[in-house]
Amino acid sequence: MKIQIVNGPNLNLLGKREPETYGKESFEDYFEKLKSRFPTAELHYFQSNVEGELINKLHEVGFSFDGIILNAGAYTHTSVALHDAIAGIKTPAVEVHISNVYAREEFRHKSLITSKCAGLITGFGLEGYAMALGYLLGKK
Ligand code: DQA
Repeated sequence: MKIQIVNGPNLNLLGKREPETYGKESFEDYFEKLKSRFPTAELHYFQSNVEGELINKLHEVGFSFDGIILNAGAYTHTSVALHDAIAGIKTPAVEVHISNVYAREEFRHKSLITSKCAGLITGFGLEGYAMALGYLLGKK
């Protein structure tokens, strides 16, 4: 199973950025653990702070991979273009947020992408990526 993890803006700073909200671990370290926990999955990781690069990655993998795990960061709450990109591809995407967006500011309560995703995981820290992976691997 080929699974693409896509992280959006500011998530390159995980481990350094607001650790009380996002934890102390870098995504690179977590990704290594994820690979050893799910040895049968072919895991790919991409991060960008640029909206169009996220869309290009969704287009690139969205007709051949088995699943996408997408943390679109702040673009979750603003991007019609990401909504349209997920709508336009075939590969199912799971929306993940590290923090519980519903326990935070009101502007984070609205997601423009949830309606086009297979489901939403929010508030379980980095473990949310493993939960999304468990779902995608169990699908087939
Ligand atoms: C986030 C939540 C978003 O509201 C925020 O803009 C992020 C991270 C999360 O993983 O909790 O950058 O997607």
